[in-house]
Amino acid sequence: TNKIIIAIDGFSSCGKSTLAKQLAAKLGYAFIDSGAMYRAITLYFIRNNVSLQDHSQILDALSNIHLSFVFNEKSQQSDIYLNDEDVAHLIREMTVAEKVSEVAAIREVRSFAVAQQKRMGKKKGIVMDGRDIGTVVFPDAELKIFMTADPEVRVKRRFQELYVTNPHITLDEVRHNLEMRDYIDSNREESPLRRAEDAVLLDNSTLTREEQLAKVLDWVKERA
Ligand code: C5P
Repeated sequence: TNKIIIAIDGFSSCGKSTLAKQLAAKLGYAFIDSGAMYRAITLYFIRNNVSLQDHSQILDALSNIHLSFVFNEKSQQSDIYLNDEDVAHLIREMTVAEKVSEVAAIREVRSFAVAQQKRMGKKKGIVMDGRDIGTVVFPDAELKIFMTADPEVRVKRRFQELYVTNPHITLDEVRHNLEMRDYIDSNREESPLRRAEDAVLLDNSTLTREEQLAKVLDWVKERA
């Protein structure tokens, strides 16, 4: 069978990365979490006090950022490196989550990330998840999936994830952050989150992980 590109988009915490990881493992494809790139850029901006209003500061900062993905045998996934530093854990912190949608709305930031994402898809055999993968990064992807899930299911899921490293986190805090990011991501001028016309809809609220994977593997078979 031919290698294809699988683009997965949707709101925050709909289970996109979990599905993408399962698919990549099953198919022997690369998995790229595009959100991790926006998070790593945000971490750099926070550390270096980059003003989001100052375009020359932003361009200057971007010219000093090198992002790469390195496969981690233990976790069986690619960890993101920011200028040779493993930031996989740091980018999950709330301080980054609070700023990332604002940073990701900046035109220069998006063209920086999208150029690199497009290069990663050159050889196909890739699963990428994000907000604009089916619409902007890979408009010709053979399989596009738009994921949704019940909002409360999403809040509880993200809460459980964050609670492991931050026992002070509250459900309200997580709910507020998801609502804010979804609002900014859907309403920004540059590449807003939308379902591509040819994307298949996948509701993740009720299916088990196994049921969901089986369903998507059928879609892959029809296209590869
Ligand atoms: O996927 P994740 O929730 O980690 O993404 C973090 C943020 O990065 C999103 O809320 C969104 O603002 C931004 N993002 C984006 N485009 C993508 C992936 C993520 O704007 N393709």
